[in-house]
This record gives sequence, C-alpha cells and structure tokens, in this order.
Amino acid sequence: MKILLTGSNGLLGQKIIDDLLLRTDITLIATAKGENRHPAKGSFIYESVDLNDDEKWLEIFENYRPDALIHGGAMTQVDICEDERVMCDKVNVDATTLLSMLCKHFNTHLIHVSTDFIFDGKKGYYTETDLPAPVNYYGLSKWKAEQAVFASGAKAAILRTILLYGVTYGLSRSNIVLWVKQSLEQGKAITVVKDQSRCPTLAQDLAAACIAAAISGATGIYHICGPEQMDIVTLAKRVANFWHLDANLIGEISSETLKQRATRPPHTAFHLGKANMELDYYPRSLEEGLAIVDAELKAFANG
Ligand SMILES: NC(=O)c1ccc[n+]([C@@H]2O[C@H](COP(=O)([O-])OP(=O)(O)OC[C@H]3O[C@@H](n4cnc5c(N)ncnc54)[C@H](OP(=O)(O)O)[C@@H]3O)[C@@H](O)[C@H]2O)c1
Repeated sequence: MKILLTGSNGLLGQKIIDDLLLRTDITLIATAKGENRHPAKGSFIYESVDLNDDEKWLEIFENYRPDALIHGGAMTQVDICEDERVMCDKVNVDATTLLSMLCKHFNTHLIHVSTDFIFDGKKGYYTETDLPAPVNYYGLSKWKAEQAVFASGAKAAILRTILLYGVTYGLSRSNIVLWVKQSLEQGKAITVVKDQSRCPTLAQDLAAACIAAAISGATGIYHICGPEQMDIVTLAKRVANFWHLDANLIGEISSETLKQRATRPPHTAFHLGKANMELDYYPRSLEEGLAIVDAELKAFANG
C-alpha cells in the first residue's frame, strides 16, 4: 500500500512517519513545505512541496498513484489565521479542495485531519453529527475544507481532533505540555486560561487513528481526542505534578482578560464511541501520554 502524507514536518506528521517506518507493507511518500526534518531521512520518499503548488501535486499523484492520502498539513496558528485570512483560505481551503479533486480523479482514499475549532464550544461533548458553528477564522477555514472534501465525491474520512501534544524532532514546534514544562523548569511564572476546557490528545494516538482509517478504508467523520476533558489550569497543574515542578508558578486568567486575537471555543470534548468501534481507537490517559513524552525527551537528550 502507498500512503501519501502532507504536513510531514509537523507534530502529527512526524508521529505518522515514526509509525509507518515500523511497517514493511506500506510505502510512504511524505511531503511538507520546508526541508525534511525527520531524522530517518533516507528511509522514505520525501517531496518538499507547497500545498498551493497545483502543478507539483498533479505530478506527485501521477508519479506515485497513492492508495491513500493523509492530509495533515495546514496553517495551524489560530491567531495568524485570524489576521491573514487570504493566506489561511489558500492553505486550508483551496489546497484541500485541490487535493480532494486529485483523490477523486486518481481513486485515492483521502484521510483529512480537521479540528474541534469547527464547533462553538458551547455544548461540551460533541458527536460526529453535531452541527459546526466556528467562532474564529481558522475554524471556519477548516470547516470549509471539510465541505470541500465531501463535495469532491472522493472516498474520504475526516478525523477531527483536539489540542495535540507531543515532541517533535529537534523540538522544532512547541505545544501546551512542553511550554508548561519548560517554563516551570526555568522557574518562570505562567498564566493560563481558566474558563476553557479541552481533551488533550497525544500525537501518537491521532497518528495511529489516521493510519487505521487509511488501512481500513474508513469513510465519514470520526472524532479523535484524549479520553478526558479538563480545563487548561488543571492540565497545567497535572503537567507540573507529573514532572514534580512548582505548580504555584501557574497563574489563572479569564478568556475575556487574556483577549487573544482569535476567539476560542470555550469547551470542546468529543464522544469517542464511533472511533472506539470502527477504528479500534482507545487513547492513552494524560499521565500515560506524559510518560511517553518524558521518554522521548530523554531519548533526544541522549542523542
Ligand atoms: N495542533 C493541534 O492542537 C491541533 C488541534 C486540532 C486539529 N489540528 C489539525 O491537525 C493537523 C496537524 O496539526 P499539527 O499540529 O501537526 O500541525 P503543525 O505542527 O503546525 O504542522 C503543519 C504542517 O503543515 C505544513 N505546512 C504548512 N503550510 C504549508 C504549505 N503552505 N505548504 C506545504 N506544507 C505546509 C508544515 O510544513 P513545514 O513545517 O515544512 O513548514 C507542517 O509540516 C492540522 O490539520 C491541524 O489543523 C491540530
């Protein structure tokens, strides 16, 4: 089986590569914008390609004729999307539209990665049939991308996820868990939002779900996240406790006072019943995930 991957330099992309390198039955063609940042560079095919380079994508599909495309590449910085809407639409919507059409044309199974930010966050636990109502431009762009996927008529699964955490090679990207850990280790006081809650998701768990969807030929929408909803203050305190750091350095702030450029949905969590049943998706607890992050950080430190 040949799997084409976008966003392979990102947190999710790197975990998908790690997982696929363990399998002998899958040929991986990884793509991202910049140079390949995965250390096992020579072990898989890599193409540096902008998501908006239509001609190069046609060439890639013609050359490799992938059985599945896992589309994890996106413009993911929520506040930048709010300010740079034209670019956000180009990367998140136009590129997904093109890739969906290519998947339809080349009979490639599309696994598209989406977000909890398509919801307004008023309800809390969302099922796959709940109606989207994004409250910021990033969420709107990802919802428009979902509609483009289904409009294309390609065989497709959409996997929505929530607040990813994990370690990228060279610590090239941070996330809430690493930021809290590193700040507290340096004795820095931090302020975290108290009136938003999420289900933090270990990047490896989402990677496994994407691969399961590709291998099983799954279609339709799937909600994929960590097993537990918690407010961000609780998340930060659990990170502090796990690494025996000073939780007194964690201060609280309301969303209204914090005034991020893009509004955030207050409470997002997903029902996992469909993913449990159809993708055999059983995510690890936060502390199990932190233990994996800890082992990865130690392995990186030891070279
Ligand atoms: N992170 C989260 O908390 C979260 C939550 C919900 C949903 N998601 C979704 O999950 C997916 C993966 O997220 P992530 O956190 O792994 O993302 P990420 O770490 O920000 O990585 C994004 C990837 O997209 C690539 N990319 C960005 N713009 C591109 C362009 N114009 N052309 C080609 N490649 C481009 C980047 O390539 P370079 O690095 O080479 O520039 C990078 O590999 C995304 O679809 C995101 O919307 C993420």
